[in-house]
Amino acid sequence: MKNKNKKIPWWMPEIGPKEYGLLKKVLDNNFTNQGPMTELLEKKVCELLHAKYAVATTSGTVALFLALKAAGVGKGDEVIVPDVTFIATANAATLCGAKVVLVDIDSHTLMIDTEKFKRAITKKTKAVIPVHISGRPAPMKEILHIAKKNGISVVEDAAEAFMSFSDGKYLGTFGSAGCFSFSPNKTVTSGQGGMLVTNDEAIYRRAKELKNQGVFERLSGGDDTHETVGFNFKFTDLQAAVALGQLSYLKKRLVRMKRNHDLYKKHLAGVKGISIFKSDTKKGIVPQWTDAVVERRDELDTYLRSKNIDCRKFWFPLHAQKPYKQSDVMFPESAKIIPKALWLPSAVTMTDKDVYTVCREIKNFFNK
Ligand SMILES: Cc1ncc(COP(=O)(O)O)c(C=O)c1O
Repeated sequence: MKNKNKKIPWWMPEIGPKEYGLLKKVLDNNFTNQGPMTELLEKKVCELLHAKYAVATTSGTVALFLALKAAGVGKGDEVIVPDVTFIATANAATLCGAKVVLVDIDSHTLMIDTEKFKRAITKKTKAVIPVHISGRPAPMKEILHIAKKNGISVVEDAAEAFMSFSDGKYLGTFGSAGCFSFSPNKTVTSGQGGMLVTNDEAIYRRAKELKNQGVFERLSGGDDTHETVGFNFKFTDLQAAVALGQLSYLKKRLVRMKRNHDLYKKHLAGVKGISIFKSDTKKGIVPQWTDAVVERRDELDTYLRSKNIDCRKFWFPLHAQKPYKQSDVMFPESAKIIPKALWLPSAVTMTDKDVYTVCREIKNFFNK
């Protein structure tokens, strides 16, 4: 008999035979450090995103740090960060020694408010980090225009937007650099890991030497000439093997993520109490996760959990977190909307039937 109470997770990584095969190859070669597998992964990511250069690194956070640092961000500079994002976005700027300047969001999209972004620019502003939440695009046209006018670098936080396509390009390829995450709740995982992509050779060279103890070429660990201060943010071929294996299911996953979103959108349309953010999947947007605005969010979350359905509540706005604490008054939109924001189950392992089950239970909750 089928398990009637099968848990529907918010997200679930999926590991297949390809990863095992490639991992074995790396282990058999006795070369676990960053090497040919990592180079192959970087090449594949460039091909997929139509980008010139890619730099694999230990996490999405580090990709952001390297992109900012390569853009010249340092002590005394200000970096503009939307108030609604994972804290890593701001922490990467802090790690550069810069001051994080939080900007409120547009509550209709959860993306940075471009008017407020414009007003937050000072002489010290060096960069802005638009965040493509859940694979939905930040307003790049306006952001790029404002940034260009003010001589500011645009580093895209595309951690949640791998392969999401908008206005003729892949997200992460609009700014001076785009940063992706390969953590376990992303489309492609390498355990932990990240990728910086750029079309700017100078950014590429600088990011590469920064991640590699100040050496652009492969490090020997012995008589190397270190051009600059650098760090050890190298990837490993073990991780690259897993990520490359994951890429072989990419097409299927992108279809599934779009379908999850489209089914929610269709079957929850008109349900009073919940609305799903719009993602134009037909035009190439890939919703990493389906995000919704929900009345009585915490009650719904508890109800769904009692039915073996896991959602994920949104991050608290950054202005509410200790390291970046500020008054709610400065962030009326995020303060208003985030207590209602919820990610619905969005795993690549979901079936249509799972999505129907979630929709049915959401309707049961609101019709009670
Ligand atoms: C919006 C956003 N930015 C940055 C990151 C950081 O990526 P990582 O966890 O790979 O460091 C994440 C990861 O979850 C994210 O969702």
